[in-house]
Amino acid sequence: MRSATAAPAGAAVPVRVAHAGRLRGELRLPGDKSITHRALILAAFADGVSTIAGASDGLDCRATAACLAALGAEVPLLGGEPGRVTWRVRSGGPGSWREPAGVLDCANSGTTLRLLAGALAGRPFRSILDGDASLRRRPLARIIEPLRLMGATLFAPGPDPHPPLTVVGHAPLRSTSYRVPVLSAQVKSAILLAGLGAEGRTAVVEPVVTRDHTERMLRARGVRVGQRQVEAGSEVSVEGGGIVRAVDERVPGDISGAAFWLVAGAAHPDAELTIRGCGVNPTRRAIIDILLAMGAEIEVRPAAGEPAGVTVGAAGADAAAAEEPVADLVVRSSELHAVDLGPDDVARAIDEIPVLAVAAACARGTTRFRGAGELRHKESDRLAGIATGLAAFGAEVALDGDDLAIGGARPLRGAAVTTRGDHRFAMAFAVAGLIADGVTIIDDAASAAVSYPAFFDDVERVRA
Ligand code: S3P
Repeated sequence: MRSATAAPAGAAVPVRVAHAGRLRGELRLPGDKSITHRALILAAFADGVSTIAGASDGLDCRATAACLAALGAEVPLLGGEPGRVTWRVRSGGPGSWREPAGVLDCANSGTTLRLLAGALAGRPFRSILDGDASLRRRPLARIIEPLRLMGATLFAPGPDPHPPLTVVGHAPLRSTSYRVPVLSAQVKSAILLAGLGAEGRTAVVEPVVTRDHTERMLRARGVRVGQRQVEAGSEVSVEGGGIVRAVDERVPGDISGAAFWLVAGAAHPDAELTIRGCGVNPTRRAIIDILLAMGAEIEVRPAAGEPAGVTVGAAGADAAAAEEPVADLVVRSSELHAVDLGPDDVARAIDEIPVLAVAAACARGTTRFRGAGELRHKESDRLAGIATGLAAFGAEVALDGDDLAIGGARPLRGAAVTTRGDHRFAMAFAVAGLIADGVTIIDDAASAAVSYPAFFDDVERVRA
């Protein structure tokens, strides 16, 4: 049993995390997973060569790169440091994509599957998108409906369709104005990518603004993106038929990876951690704001060192709207107290809820996560995973339908826990293990490689 960074994909590797007496050090994050997926896909939409530096090499982003290669783009990984690599993409634009010879394997990645479904909706050939057992449980109706409205043919098994998903694209697509029934940046992005191949203006309305990387990155590539407030919420739109320019981009550090260190640093009684080069896009920084509201001592400082989040070539009035803001973060041991989080907070911090639940278990009072049902549709049923995992650590947890309440009165004790094959649980339970008394055994450390392959190396570094 060891810290399991080099484990082969798919092999469960148990890991032992002992209580840490103190946490100190500097962390450099892996490249943002959401931005890396989009940078790869948008590079395949461009006619030319794009480079993507500081990018994720996690298994999810590797799946996206492999799917684009199967469509005919050249997507070599040029190297770099683990977690922050450079991809180069050479493409002739979507007109050069060819019908894939086999199934497009999206592995564990919902973002790969849903964004590619949108991208492929405007290509006049048949693709089949599939993945692992977890991906095969993820709901698809949310993308099938809007993409059908736009004129693509999509089908998937079951009354509540799930992968494998067959997409028979149509060129050109019909533009649409679509109000999303579930808050989802993947759905929004899939429709916007399809909108690039539609005649006229395609608009998506969302009641709460989910992560807006696609919008920023389209602007950085010369696509006109509209944004306005309408009665039902925020509307974002693209004009079909525009040119997507090839650009060179630097990806910021992944705030969803930073979340583990923010909670570890704030909840541990003897900690000071510095996190370098973290993306702090306003639509992604809810984890910082919620922890601040819980009393966490977090400083957000201008990023020292190399520029990140910059797209070379983005200039003029749109430059600011096209960039991704980056900061250094310093977190220190804090007296945390409970907060009450509603469905909008859950949507804004959707990937960070597992580790926020660990913070809640260390906070004074009872923290509530209300209307958290979307968590059931992630890489695992995260509501059930939080409830059983934190109960094993001795926390007070009550799950009532889609509402979760976590009391922080009891000290955490080391436990044997299962990740359910979900990378966020491998890392959230490791954070709990650093804080808890005794020793924690996590059944599958290898799943962290989906988004943060070096995570367990960093765990050993910060306790030193
Ligand atoms: C993502 C959006 C979110 C998030 C996922 C990444 C993205 O999913 O949970 O990890 O990159 O657009 P939903 O759109 O399903 O909420």
